Amino acid sequence: MKTIIKTIDKNSIDIKNIGIAADILKSGGLVAFPTETVYGLGANALDEKAVSEIFVAKGRPSDNPLIVHVCNVEMVKRLVKNIPELAFKLMEKFWPGPLTLIMEKSSRVPEIITAGLSTVAIRMPSHPIALKIIEESQVPVAAPSANISGKPSPTEAKHVIEDLMGKVELIIDGGSSQVGLESTVLDVTVNPPMILRPGGITKEQLEEAVGKIDIDKAILSDHLEDIKPRAPGMKYTHYSPKADVIIIEGKVEACVEKIRELAESYKRDGIPVGILATEQTKGLYTVGTVMSLGDRKMPDTIASSLFRELRHLDDKGVRVILAEAIEDTGVGLAVMNRMKKAAGYNIIKVGD
Ligand code: TXA
Ligand code: MG
Repeated sequence: MKTIIKTIDKNSIDIKNIGIAADILKSGGLVAFPTETVYGLGANALDEKAVSEIFVAKGRPSDNPLIVHVCNVEMVKRLVKNIPELAFKLMEKFWPGPLTLIMEKSSRVPEIITAGLSTVAIRMPSHPIALKIIEESQVPVAAPSANISGKPSPTEAKHVIEDLMGKVELIIDGGSSQVGLESTVLDVTVNPPMILRPGGITKEQLEEAVGKIDIDKAILSDHLEDIKPRAPGMKYTHYSPKADVIIIEGKVEACVEKIRELAESYKRDGIPVGILATEQTKGLYTVGTVMSLGDRKMPDTIASSLFRELRHLDDKGVRVILAEAIEDTGVGLAVMNRMKKAAGYNIIKVGD
């Protein structure tokens, strides 16, 4: 298949290109587009055949349900049985934005979207290009992250091109995704609501808005086998670069010490090593390809660069990536969740 690539400036959107994207969606094709979290691979959510093409293009297991993207609450009403009171509050407060709500699905939602579950995941993205495409096509858009299943999610069009060139009709380049990690997935069919995937909107923010929030225990576990996650997608190893990732966890000074020691020993063995450091620590390493993810005091800076730097270190040809853990509060919880998955839960704890 021939893939068209179009660049759109999010601050001055060329409506002609949006029209092209909308026409492709309406006629059953696939369009990769930017959102504020990561790039999405979209199809008309009401077109079963089109949605099945998403699974083929990504190599995605069919038991992993998709998120449906909407541009207004009217669209949500048609996709769900009812909207719980608390969900209205959350939409009011956090939409458009990186929050996905799980609700009871209506009969309009094809089974292929929900992988046979009775619930459907819905979000309204805040990225102006994503919103415009949904508005223009007037259909709900099913969109997982626009990467090959298992690889780090794409935060730039070039990542999408690497993974999906020749497999989709259109890729829209709208610059870098601002959040850099996927949306928070929140199940509002249970009371208190439960976070099934940590993301751009934090537990702290949600609790401030609506009171107590639970977290799926599987997210907090350090071993994949421990507990079955409630979001089917969370059971897969994920976000994996080609290199092996090892997380070093503990006090910052002890982590740096351990990483320096490991980097030296890989160097002696002739194995190229990459280090995922922070602004506070990047100057302390003398061996290996060192990338700063951001500022430890501003975990959102780290969130926005994690996936990009995992791909970047692969491009540099390193075989092992040593990553400093950060504090798992606020958006740090989502950062550590993705990092642990990228590492296949390979974590070294150093003395406290
Ligand atoms: O930020 C995002 O959410 C991005 C952008 C493109 O919007 N999309 C995204 O989609 O991350 P995807 O398909 O990569 O991840 C969807 C997650 C998976 O873990 C899936 O298992 C879960 O949401 N999910 C979808 N429907 C669900 C449902 N009915 N019940 C529980 N989990 C569900
Ligand atoms: Mg994904």
